[in-house]
Amino acid sequence: MCGIVGFAGVRQAAPILLEGLKRLEYRGYDSAGLAVQSDGKIVVSKARGRLSALCKLTHDGADIDGTVGIGHTRWATHGEPSYINSHPHMSHDGAVCVVHNGIIENYLALRAFLEAQGYEFVSDTDTEIISQLLAYCYEGDPVEAVKRARGYLEGSYALGILFRDRPEAIYAVSKDNPLIVGLGEGENYMASDVTAILKHTRRVFRLNEGEMAVITKDCVSVTDEYGMGVDKTVTEVTWDADAAEKGGYEHFMIKEILEQPEVIQKTANPRIVDGRIDMGLKRITREDLRGVDNICIVACGSAYHVGCVAKPILKRLCRLPVSVELASEFKYADPLVDARTLVIVISQSGETIDTYHALKEAAARGARIVSVVNVVGSTIAAASEDVIYTWAGPEIAVATTKAYSAQLIVLYMLAMYIGRIRETATREQERELIAELNALPAAVARALNDKEGVQYLASLYYSSKDVFFIGRNIDYALALEGSLKLKEISYIHSEAYAAGELKHGTISLVEQGTLVIALCTYAPLKDKLVSNIKEVKSRGANVIALANEGDEDIAQVADHVIYIPRWGQTTMPSLAIIPLQLFAYYVASLKGCDVDKPRNLAKSVTVE
Ligand code: G6P
Repeated sequence: MCGIVGFAGVRQAAPILLEGLKRLEYRGYDSAGLAVQSDGKIVVSKARGRLSALCKLTHDGADIDGTVGIGHTRWATHGEPSYINSHPHMSHDGAVCVVHNGIIENYLALRAFLEAQGYEFVSDTDTEIISQLLAYCYEGDPVEAVKRARGYLEGSYALGILFRDRPEAIYAVSKDNPLIVGLGEGENYMASDVTAILKHTRRVFRLNEGEMAVITKDCVSVTDEYGMGVDKTVTEVTWDADAAEKGGYEHFMIKEILEQPEVIQKTANPRIVDGRIDMGLKRITREDLRGVDNICIVACGSAYHVGCVAKPILKRLCRLPVSVELASEFKYADPLVDARTLVIVISQSGETIDTYHALKEAAARGARIVSVVNVVGSTIAAASEDVIYTWAGPEIAVATTKAYSAQLIVLYMLAMYIGRIRETATREQERELIAELNALPAAVARALNDKEGVQYLASLYYSSKDVFFIGRNIDYALALEGSLKLKEISYIHSEAYAAGELKHGTISLVEQGTLVIALCTYAPLKDKLVSNIKEVKSRGANVIALANEGDEDIAQVADHVIYIPRWGQTTMPSLAIIPLQLFAYYVASLKGCDVDKPRNLAKSVTVE
């Protein structure tokens, strides 16, 4: 949610900031802006709309002179996307300038307080409060001013701050919102996301809550909330910078879809040790896992859908009650978790604030916590007892595909790992799963080979107004994800239904020409699905069915069938999801939608 980048060096800052913002545009794209220290004043330039508008306005940064600056790309929370509301925000006296990710919860009270002191506000944002508050607290020492201002702020924030009187420095602080500092030679950086600065440096560290960094070209100093110096451990980022490039593809989304065979291999292989599955847990012991009496999965969006797929698998292999909770609801629902609950937290970014809050709530109730995270060193990873990383690499398209697939792999393996420890899963089942996992990348590649077939179906139906996805058991969990993919990037209204529930209401919405996508890959309930297809067909629906190779009878009832390789029951979802991702992608492309940056959405959701 919003992206921040900062640079202090000897090179011109504006082009470097714009380039960093390009990498962050997937985090927010309502508007963008820069602030650069230039000849004794802070020069701000901002534009509504995509980053390209700001690039045009500033001639790719050439119009702004100065070597220290901050930049921001916005996803609106307080106030509509507009020039006035876009960041950076300057204090009324021009002394302090701020870029902000997060939400200040007490901003109305602070605004009233500052207005009473004669401060005038021009925007509707919570961020402008911060710059004005800093000006109010400033008495010549920026570090003191930041410290004092923090005492007033409630909510979450990652801040990049410029003080006009200190043209050489950027001040950075964060609370419940990620900020990374990057170290270069004679220049240093800050960013909300490592991809923004990867081109310039791989040496980074993360600011922890309460810490403040003062970043100049020659030096980065970090202090804790008491003003004591902190010695940070520098991490070397191993991500390939090219992995965050489109590499000739039209969109990141299709590139990421096609990367899935490799991602599956990278995620599974290191966890197969001497023919056994080992999840490499460091703190949660085998004994702990034997003592667990229920499992609770918490996550948001597609990660929640991974939980829905995993639930029956965990139940089958671990013989434990499993619940899947939306992280945004969890904290406020008096959750029934305690020291005998294993909470599995799933998050690509590791920054989703709802998921993080759910984690904290579960931890406060004594639950054991293992998270499944893609971004190394992220907030959720750092706050978990144990972390299992999905090795999906940087995912840039807002609609997740490869991270979803990597999460599925981890969940299958974790289910087997726990099942084996608890002796509810057999050695034979473990062998079968390993064999499936070893063969899966090639099978996924085969499913991807049929992309033209899916593209053809997309060309028939891309102007649909409503689409219903139906399935039973695991197919229903997959339908949830297929439907989300389609609606988020193509803006077509779509819903997922448990096929058996159709007749309890939704079938009344089916009329001549309504598109129904029927998932029939879950073999035990295939015949039931055939009946459901007949029900919607007889009401005029057009049906695309997703079926296992060899299930020729489906072709008798559906208008079109997408066949996927016949496969083992546990890892089948990894194949079945492929055509659904491709369908959403091609429909959105044919409609001319901005596939990688769908309207109103952001990749990393760091507001509640
Ligand atoms: C956003 C993204 C989704 C993602 C969800 C949860 O809505 O657009 O793709 O599934 O957040 O994000 P997380 O990073 O926690 O997996």
